[in-house]
Amino acid sequence: MHANSSSNLKLPKNLYLETTSRCNLKCKGCILYRGSWEPQRDLSLKELIMICDQLPELERTALHGIGEPLLNAELPNMIQYLKDRKAYVFFNSNGVLLDEKRQVQLIDSGLDELRISLDAASPAGYKAMRDSDKFDRIVSNVQVFSERIKSLQVFNPKLSLWYLGTRENISELPDFVRLAASLGVTEVYLQRLVYFHDDEGYGLARPQKTLVDSDAATAELIHESHEIAKQSGVQFNASGLSNPLESLQTGFGNPLPWKKCYRPQTLMYITANGNVLPCCISPFATSDYDSIILGNVFDSSLAEIWSGHRYRAFRKKRQTEQPPQCCKGCGTLWSL
Ligand SMILES: C[S@@+](CC[C@H](N)C(=O)[O-])C[C@H]1O[C@@H](n2cnc3c(N)ncnc32)[C@H](O)[C@@H]1O
Ligand code: SF4
Ligand code: SF4
Repeated sequence: MHANSSSNLKLPKNLYLETTSRCNLKCKGCILYRGSWEPQRDLSLKELIMICDQLPELERTALHGIGEPLLNAELPNMIQYLKDRKAYVFFNSNGVLLDEKRQVQLIDSGLDELRISLDAASPAGYKAMRDSDKFDRIVSNVQVFSERIKSLQVFNPKLSLWYLGTRENISELPDFVRLAASLGVTEVYLQRLVYFHDDEGYGLARPQKTLVDSDAATAELIHESHEIAKQSGVQFNASGLSNPLESLQTGFGNPLPWKKCYRPQTLMYITANGNVLPCCISPFATSDYDSIILGNVFDSSLAEIWSGHRYRAFRKKRQTEQPPQCCKGCGTLWSL
């Protein structure tokens, strides 16, 4: 058998686990703005262990999917279990629930990295992006947490602030970098908007709202943000492998960028209901949810799913000029 054949693939070292599909916000760019693809549910610690025990070479685990991880009361124990397994553990959070009790729990659990998705530099900007009045509370949570980490000299978790870049909020990006610096957060990430492909479109997840292939004014704002970052000792990055300006250009001249995507061979994304998806972008980038469900961990083993016919068919189709709907138009350097 060919060495690269699907059935020969080693189980992944990289795992995305949706610890809950519940959320305390309804952000305008998120799937939850229209309604969830899946029923609301928390993953239990027992279920997480059942899943991870099937991955002997697990190295890296994200504990977010579509939902707010801090709502899961078992989260600190989950992190502890994964740290005992020597995996790198991180998650994205909206930060609303990041009170002092949770801060202490997260530090004690050994969490490696916490990414706060803020998307704005002002209460009004936050309202426009995330439809919530919680901006000041989150900023205060981050400030207290950043000071706590420093004063305890624990270094972990590494804190970063994330900015979903759209035409609505790009003008606040330089202030966002200033805000990060003032909070003692030394990493800022610009995230590229993934939008829905169905006719309705909704919220901010629409093609007209993206910054992709955007104008000179956006490039200037990104340049200015870079300068502010440099002066204030903040790293300014894009999600995935690219830099912020590159991340807004489609394909890099490659007409079939999805062919280069490594995710279906290297990671699994498992929802709180046990569904296995090819990556964390796919639920944002399709209107046919069933087409991205490649198996369910409550029905089959991970090994069976990984080498099963649905996964193999997905990988094969992604290598063609007619890829799965979620991959069409997907750049290779995206990552949530
Ligand atoms: C779905 S959230 C789940 C974790 C947590 N609730 C949060 O907001 O960080 C994971 C990440 O997806 C991002 N996100 C939401 N809508 C998006 C979109 N349409 N395109 C790209 N990223 C998006 C969020 O900003 C967040 O950083
Ligand atoms: S982006 Fe995060 S916080 Fe906002 S609705 Fe989606 S899951 Fe909830
Ligand atoms: S949707 Fe994008 S990231 Fe996900 S498997 Fe397809 S090409 Fe890769």
